[in-house]
This record gives sequence, structure tokens and C-alpha cells, in this order.
Amino acid sequence: MAGKPIIKVAALCGSLRKGSYNRGLLRSAIEISKESIDGMQIEYVEVSHLPMINTDLEVDGKYPSAVEEFRQKILRADSVFFASPEYNYSVSPVLKNAIDWASRPPNVWAGKAAAVVSAGGDLGGGRAQYHLRQSGVYLDLHFINKPELMVRAFQPPAKFDQEGNLIDPQVKENLKKVLLALHDFSLRLVGRA
Ligand SMILES: Cc1cc2nc3c(=O)[nH]c(=O)nc-3n(C[C@H](O)[C@H](O)[C@H](O)COP(=O)(O)O)c2cc1C
Repeated sequence: MAGKPIIKVAALCGSLRKGSYNRGLLRSAIEISKESIDGMQIEYVEVSHLPMINTDLEVDGKYPSAVEEFRQKILRADSVFFASPEYNYSVSPVLKNAIDWASRPPNVWAGKAAAVVSAGGDLGGGRAQYHLRQSGVYLDLHFINKPELMVRAFQPPAKFDQEGNLIDPQVKENLKKVLLALHDFSLRLVGRA
């Protein structure tokens, strides 16, 4: 009998900030998946070193090596988990840049399940989430609809410590629900449920 299927998840953060709350959400997601979600492996995928999108860098059908490596990591993943800050009501340039590189032919996002969470100001980064979902339509990236997690990072009580670690038990619980929904949807998309 085949072993239990493992869903491999690529985790991307849209913030370069050392104490980023959004990267804190990813760290917590990785911890939760290891501790309590059977069959889900989340790998943090760095995007900060990618060159700015420029099709002049595509030579003889090849991408710059950092971009090739990044694209391979996305390709190997069953699904994608984004933690996106909201910059001027949209996703941050660093995340958009990574999305653009992986959308170049062949589009390596296509057919994967995805989820997005965010930490930010008054709407907890919700407007960035909805812009990202819109890009997902073009990319054939299939976002879970619910649950949504938008963390209002600046409302008391503190949700994160000074290093950006998530410290709020309720947010952790809600984060786990998002991960379980992503796991379930990923299994359905890869035909294992
Ligand atoms: C250039 C810039 C634009 C921003 N625009 C928004 C915004 O439109 N809405 C919002 O709620 N917060 C906005 N913020 C605040 C960030 O969402 C907030 O600082 C968040 O904590 C950043 O995520 P991080 O902690 O992961 O770095 C902006 C911050 C920067 C630097």
C-alpha cells in the first residue's frame, strides 16, 4: 500500500524587514505544520535575492541562475503559502517580482493550490490579499476561499514580539485552520483525496 501522501508547500514572504510580522506568520506556520499537521511539509523559499523582472535577462530560453533555482522550488511544490504585507493597498514589490519571474513561460504556478495570510494595518493587509488573488486568476493559481486570516498587527494586545515572532494563541489557532484548509484543498487538486 502507498505511504501517506505528503503535501509540499512553498512558503513566500513579501517583506524584507528583519523583524517582519509576515515572516513571523510563516515561521509559526512551519512550526504548526511540524507539530500538528500530518502530511504537510512547508519549505521557506527566499525571494529577496531575485533580480528585478527584466526579460532582457532571459537568454536562449534560460533565466538567471537565481531565478531558475527559484522556479524549480515552485515547480517541485504542490502548493504555495504566501504571507504578504500590504504596501499602498497592494502586494509588496519583492513579492510581485517573485510572482512575475515564476509566471514566465512555462508558468510554474499553474494548477497549484494556494493560501495567503497577512499582517498589517487597519485591514490586516486584506487589500494586498485581494490583489494577490486577482493575480492568481491569470496565473492559474487556485486560492482557498476560506478561512481568511488578516492580522491587525498594530491593535493591542500585541500579536508579535520584537523579533516578529507570533505570540497570540488565537491567531495561531486561526493560522492552523488556514493550513488545514490548504492541506485539504491541495490533496484534492493533486488527486489524492
Ligand atoms: C511602502 C509601504 C507602504 C505601506 N502601505 C500600507 C498600506 O497600504 N496598508 C497598510 O495597512 N499598511 C501599509 N504599510 C504598513 C505595513 O503593512 C506594515 O508595516 C507591515 O507590518 C509590514 O509588514 P512586515 O511587518 O511583514 O514587514 C506600508 C508600509 C510600507 C513600508
